[in-house]
Amino acid sequence: MQYILGMGLRRIACLLIFSAPVLLSQHPAGADVSAGQKLFQKSCSSCHGENAKGGRGPDLTTGDWRWGGSNSAILQNILSGIPNTQMPAFPMTAADGELIVAYLRLLENNAPDEKLKGDSEAGRNLFFGSAKCGQCHMFGGRGGRLGPDLSEIRNQRKTAELREAIVSPDKSLRRNYETVEVRLPSGRLLRGAKKNEDTFSIQIMDEQEKLHMLLKKDLKEIKTPHKSLMPTTEMTGGELENVIAFLKYPGPGEAAPPEWKPSADLNVTYSRLKNAHAEPQNWLTYWGDYQGRTTAA
Ligand code: HEC
Ligand code: HEC
Repeated sequence: MQYILGMGLRRIACLLIFSAPVLLSQHPAGADVSAGQKLFQKSCSSCHGENAKGGRGPDLTTGDWRWGGSNSAILQNILSGIPNTQMPAFPMTAADGELIVAYLRLLENNAPDEKLKGDSEAGRNLFFGSAKCGQCHMFGGRGGRLGPDLSEIRNQRKTAELREAIVSPDKSLRRNYETVEVRLPSGRLLRGAKKNEDTFSIQIMDEQEKLHMLLKKDLKEIKTPHKSLMPTTEMTGGELENVIAFLKYPGPGEAAPPEWKPSADLNVTYSRLKNAHAEPQNWLTYWGDYQGRTTAA
């Protein structure tokens, strides 16, 4: 609640738009999204499923982007494909690619996420203070490098995924941050995050953030324990929720705004929201129709 009061009017307006079913109208912003949807259905649904919920290719609506979640990374993956995987390149214009990205973002933002219980401001103090997250993680240009930069994590992970990542760090290790232990020629054990590896060499960032480039032939042993460098948290449940609220809603000035949001100009007036049932065809819902009925597949 404290956190709601702390928010500016614009953010509240924004939440209102977010929490409403998203509009697909004749309005230009809506038209862009439906153009993206058409392109998607034509080129992508054979592998990613009709509504991008996955098939031979992964579900693209979860907010979990294995190959990068920024708009430019997704666009790149579409235009150039993902090497050594079954994801082909699509030689379309960047403008068409962006329409698809906008459509995928809409699905992602529209997928249900839980309500936040914590206090964002208290969470920031914990993050950079007693919870020590900032020792390993950057946020808004400040913090350590051993763990991933969390400034944009709110666009990439759902609340439940953040909670799991913090409570059980060993469950899934983020690419380029996997733990590796090597035995140096001197016999010393070096532990850190694996930044890169090829047949002959390996790059490791140690726990003091020092980068080591090592030749495998010099190493006595290379182990990759499936254990995160991130310690299991000692925060209380309430503190954990505060940190999650901070990561999800850092507040003004802390970090760059999310790259893409449905335009505030979607023509969603209060009276249209209130009488939404009068135009169910204009509300894209995730499951079933506006009345909550699911259509037979
Ligand atoms: C022939 C099947 C196929 C088609 C067609 C296809 N994809 Fe993919 N796509 C894949 C597979 C398989 C992967 C997973 C690659 C991996 O991680 O191994 C993938 C991955 C992706 C990713 C990366 C997901 C992530 O987690 O980062 C994006 C984005 C993507 N596809 C978008 C598209 C779009 C948009 C289209 C249509 C223009 C499309 N794909 C068409 C098979 C396909
Ligand atoms: C000793 C360094 C260290 C500390 C302290 C630390 N982390 Fe991490 N964190 C990491 C590393 C390394 C990873 C990547 C490996 C993994 O996924 O566990 C990570 C991963 C994460 C992820 C998952 C990111 C993703 O892409 O899914 C989140 C969320 C996270 N940390 C939050 C926190 C929070 C919140 C705190 C403070 C309570 C914290 N971390 C403290 C090192 C640390």
